[in-house]
Amino acid sequence: MKNVLIVYYSQTGQQKDIVDNIVKPLTKDAEVKLTYYQIKPVHKFPFPWTKNEFFDVFPETFLQIPMELDTHENDILSDRYDLIILSYQIWFLSVSLPVISFLKSHQAKKLFENTKVITIIGCRNMWVMAQEKMKLQLVNLKAKLVGNIVFTDRQNNHVSLITLLHWLFKGEKTSYLGIFPKPGVPDKDINESDKFGESILDSLKKGKWNHLQEQLLSKGAVHVKPLLVFIEKRGTFLFSKWARFIIKKGGPGQKSREPWLKVFYYYLLIALWGIAPVVTLLFNLIYLPTYFLFKKSVNYYKSVILK
Ligand SMILES: Cc1cc2nc3c(=O)[nH]c(=O)nc-3n(C[C@H](O)[C@H](O)[C@H](O)COP(=O)(O)O)c2cc1C
Repeated sequence: MKNVLIVYYSQTGQQKDIVDNIVKPLTKDAEVKLTYYQIKPVHKFPFPWTKNEFFDVFPETFLQIPMELDTHENDILSDRYDLIILSYQIWFLSVSLPVISFLKSHQAKKLFENTKVITIIGCRNMWVMAQEKMKLQLVNLKAKLVGNIVFTDRQNNHVSLITLLHWLFKGEKTSYLGIFPKPGVPDKDINESDKFGESILDSLKKGKWNHLQEQLLSKGAVHVKPLLVFIEKRGTFLFSKWARFIIKKGGPGQKSREPWLKVFYYYLLIALWGIAPVVTLLFNLIYLPTYFLFKKSVNYYKSVILK
């Protein structure tokens, strides 16, 4: 019998939906025992989000400072597993706060040690820097990352930002103004994701993990867009300055940091609508003649290796 644990957090249900579809082939196999563990923060984030709460999670999320979790069902966490499937989302170019808090908990230390892990990401489109943080955290936990699958919105960067904010602030996965596309990961991508489960099941039964990521990639598990990586790297540098500055003004929910979170919000508006389009234009001009320079880093971000 192969023992598999699925650890997940999801606000809208999208992240759970994705992992449910991926593991379909595992559920049909009598030799696989699947157990779900839902991460539950003590402080429940609102859905739909309010603007204040949304920006208030930024400093702790970006700096990956853990929050308190409800440590229910401890017996699940004290068992040993042949594989842990970690289904997580991105917040502010980082691992979402509930998920990183779980990975930094004392339960995670025992649970992940010497255990194979597959990460499944669902997000708008910017996940590369967060996965680097995730790889590092898994190394700290002495876990072995053997696979990664990424699901993103398929729309243009600015369109997906509008549709995501409509979804998160209205609480409805509907078309904004009846003009914009539906937000989130396309249903088709989610419905077809059992193809990844077949490769996972094969590796699990054979106990051979070395070529799993190659197989997943051949099925389209990860797409890396050099332009987005370029934007993310600069965003990460600037976010680190903002997060360190704001956190000095007060802790989560404190009034003393509210004005600075507002300034950060206006900064984001200017960066996204003023600076990003210019960067995109310049990047596209240099990208084609220098394509070969990006190829190596694209391959690295598709891999499960940490440099
Ligand atoms: C506070 C917050 C920040 C987010 N930041 C990012 C981001 O930096 N990059 C990204 O691609 N998606 C980002 N998203 C979208 C999420 O990764 C995710 O797709 C969405 O919240 C749905 O996930 P769910 O399964 O938890 O409902 C953000 C969402 C939230 C709530």
